[in-house]
Amino acid sequence: MPAISKKGQNMPQSPIRKLVPYAEMAYKQGKTVYHLNIGQPDIKTPEIALDAVRVHSLDILAYTRSEGSDEYRNKIANYYSQHDIEVTKSDIIVTTGGSEALLFAFGSVMDTDDEVIIPEPFYANYNGFSTASGVNIVPVISKIEDNFALPPIEEFEKLITPKTKAILICNPGNPTGYLYSKEEIKKLADIVKKHDLFLISDEVYREFVYDGATHYSIMQEEGLAEHAIMIDSVSKRYSMCGARIGCLVSKNKEVIATALKFAQARLSPPTLAQIASEAALQTPQSYFDNVIEEYVARRNTLITELKKIEGVKVGQPKGAFYCIVELPVKNSDAFAQWLLESFDVNGETVMVAPAAGFYSTPGVGLNQIRIAYVLNQDSLKRAVSILKEALKVYKD
Ligand SMILES: Cc1ncc(COP(=O)(O)O)c(C=O)c1O
Repeated sequence: MPAISKKGQNMPQSPIRKLVPYAEMAYKQGKTVYHLNIGQPDIKTPEIALDAVRVHSLDILAYTRSEGSDEYRNKIANYYSQHDIEVTKSDIIVTTGGSEALLFAFGSVMDTDDEVIIPEPFYANYNGFSTASGVNIVPVISKIEDNFALPPIEEFEKLITPKTKAILICNPGNPTGYLYSKEEIKKLADIVKKHDLFLISDEVYREFVYDGATHYSIMQEEGLAEHAIMIDSVSKRYSMCGARIGCLVSKNKEVIATALKFAQARLSPPTLAQIASEAALQTPQSYFDNVIEEYVARRNTLITELKKIEGVKVGQPKGAFYCIVELPVKNSDAFAQWLLESFDVNGETVMVAPAAGFYSTPGVGLNQIRIAYVLNQDSLKRAVSILKEALKVYKD
């Protein structure tokens, strides 16, 4: 048989999805599974976005421009200006989800064997994007004890080599829920300017910030225009994960010109989904107010309930809708599989994401899981009580 590429063999499985066959087995056994493993919000997509695709006057479902339609990019620029981010349509490339924006960013600024420094734990698919791009991730460890705050800047400096091209952050963070402060962003800005690196910031959870905090984007930072690349998406903002629309934003003209070549190679982002995403921009603030209120209530319930379990450690998420939870187990991969295969309380069990896949340092995070609080409060309470019972009887 012809051989599979080394790159293909090295592509990591998604830690979020790899337990799916065990979940399917659990369904076959008639179990109810509470999904705490995946960031698929249960929040309704704004009607205005769905209506735009229900009723439209297209005769041909044609390609759009590779960088996305002019109308849509103009409106995105207007949305950013309401968030104190001053960009124009020529600074924006519409992509097939934030995922493709990340791939374009990696492809545009890094060559094979180049290095990107990422605070870990990080969004697990950064591993996949870096493998696909032949880029090496150099992790800088952030700790649950510090609530996953930005590691000291000296830790970054120690890791910079001639191969380092970029620092990548996720703000607010998946899987940590950490929201970087303005001061932390300024520290990162100083270091990328000093060492002439790119700063890539994944801001797909921008709206999801809690407790009266405000999000500070790298695009708001003065003097960072040549260094800053922002990744964005409609997936979580409007609960439109299936639209597959995101964007890459930079004021660096060469980055945009290069990313555009990647965009041209795949011709166009999806046309209908751009129509929906353009309409979604008219979503009233009241929609977000309700959504944020709901997530804050869910977070509070989840954290309160988790803290009641002996031996469990959890930080205080300030944004997004995830948290890393340390469990009194040795191997959360085996634990997560056991929950689906061999455990239930009255026919109900939970599915969690083992956290090791959110780290690139081998052996770190083995006793941690990531929880996405995308279920209503009653389901969250029930799911945590199942977790509690499971920990009482589980043997490593
Ligand atoms: C941090 C982060 N970045 C990027 C993405 C990619 O999202 P999408 O491709 O749906 O826009 C996700 C999805 O969960 C995410 O959590």
